[in-house]
Amino acid sequence: MEHIIIEGGNTRLQGEVVIEGAKNAVLPLLAATILAKDGQTILRNVPILSDVFTMNNVIRGLDIDVVFDENNKEITVDASNYILDKAPYEYVSQMRASIVVLGPILARCGHATVSMPGGCSIGSRPIDLHLKGLEAMGAKITQSGGDIIAKASKLQGANIYLDFPSVGATQNLMMAATLAEGKTVIENAAREPEIVDLALLLNKMGAIVKGAGTETLTIQGVNRLHGADHDVVQDRIEAGTFMVAAAMTNGDVLIKDAIWEHNRPLISKLREMGVEVTDEARGIRVKADTASLKPVTVKTLPHPGFPTDMQAQFTALMAVVDGESTMIETVFENRFQHLEEMRRMGLHSEILRETAMIHGGQGLQGATVMSTDLRASAALILSGLVAKGQTKVGKLTHLDRGYYQFNEKLVGLGATIKRVKGDA
Ligand code: UD1
Repeated sequence: MEHIIIEGGNTRLQGEVVIEGAKNAVLPLLAATILAKDGQTILRNVPILSDVFTMNNVIRGLDIDVVFDENNKEITVDASNYILDKAPYEYVSQMRASIVVLGPILARCGHATVSMPGGCSIGSRPIDLHLKGLEAMGAKITQSGGDIIAKASKLQGANIYLDFPSVGATQNLMMAATLAEGKTVIENAAREPEIVDLALLLNKMGAIVKGAGTETLTIQGVNRLHGADHDVVQDRIEAGTFMVAAAMTNGDVLIKDAIWEHNRPLISKLREMGVEVTDEARGIRVKADTASLKPVTVKTLPHPGFPTDMQAQFTALMAVVDGESTMIETVFENRFQHLEEMRRMGLHSEILRETAMIHGGQGLQGATVMSTDLRASAALILSGLVAKGQTKVGKLTHLDRGYYQFNEKLVGLGATIKRVKGDA
C-alpha cells in the first residue's frame, strides 16, 4: 500500500504540464482491436494506467497478442488468428468498462460470454441499454452463473433509440454494428470526444461510421475489418483536473496542447467564476486570483454538458471560493463520497439527493483521507494543496486507474507532495 503526503496551504501552481492520451478513449479503442481479422492495430499516445493493463489482460484472455511498449506509449494488437469468445472473469471483474468487449466479440465470433460487471462505488451502473441494443440487432441474450451469454450468427442492422446517451452502450453497439448485415442507426447516442475517437479508429479499420459527435450515429455494416494505426485523443479530464488545480491555487499554468473544444463546458464555468482561461498556441492557460472568485451553480450532464468526471475536482474548487456554490449531479447517484472525506478537512457542505451545497471559503485543514473513487482521489489531492498543514491521501489504487504520474506532475508545477510506502 502507498499513500500521498501533501504539505499544503501556500502552494501556487505555476509552469507547464503535459497531458496523456485519454483513459476513456483507449479502453474502447482496445476493445475495437478485437474486430480486426487482418493485420495489426497500433495505438499510440497510450496512457500508462492500471485500467489499460487490465484491458490488455482482458484481450489477452481471448488469445489475442497484445504488446505494450511503455517507453513509446504504444500498444500493438494482433487479433488476426482464431480468437476465444469468452472474456475471463479474473480481469473483467476488476473493471466495469470491460463490458465494451461484448459487442466486438459477439460481432466477430457470433457468440460471446462476458462476466456481469460488478457493483461500483459511484452508483448502480446498469447495462440494460447495451443488452437491449444488441437484442434489437438480433442477439439472443441469457444470463448464467454471473455471465452474460450473447448469441447471433450474424447481427442485423437495426434502428436503436437509447433512453439515455450512455457512453458505454453507444460504444458497444457502434462496434457490434460495424460487422452487422445492413445499416444500424443509433439515436440519442452519446456525443463524447471519446466516441468520436472510436469512430475514427473504426473507419481506419474499414468500417463505415457516420455522425460521431452528433445525436445520430449511422453504421453501415461491412464483412471484414483490418488493423490500423491510431493516436489516442488527449485526456480532457486530466487536462480539466490541472485547470481546476491552477484555479484553486492562485496559479498560472499552461496545459500543453489541451483541446479547447473538448473542455468548453468546464471553461465556461471557470470563466463564470472569474478564472482567466485563454486559448494559446501551445495549449490552454489558466490563471486565477483565487480570493476574487465567485460561487457558481453547476449541473453535470452528458457531453456537451458539464462532465460528471470533473464534478469531484470542481467541488474542491468550490470549497475554496467564498460563498455558496451548488453542484447538481444528474449522471450518477452516489457520487458525492469525496465530500464526506473533505468534511474531515473542515469542508462545510450539505447533500440532498443529487444536490450538494458547498459553503466555500471557510478554510480547509490537512487531514488523513481516503480516496473513494478515481476522480475523488484527484479532488482530495487538490484539496490537500490548499489545506493548511499536512494531508495524507490513501487508497491510491483509484488514482492509478486514471492519472499517470499525478504527484510528479504537481511537483513540476511547484507543489510539495510525495508518494510513500505504507498505509496513510
Ligand atoms: C463512461 C466513462 C465514465 C463517465 C461516464 C459518464 C469510460 C470508461 N467511462 O462510463 O468515466 O463517468 O461515461 O460520462 O468511458 N446507464 C443505464 N443503462 C445502461 C448504461 C448506462 O441506465 O445500460 C446509466 C448509468 O447508470 C449512468 C448513466 O447511464 O447513470 C451514464 O452511464 P454511461 O454513459 O454508460 O457511463 P459509462 O460508459 O459506464
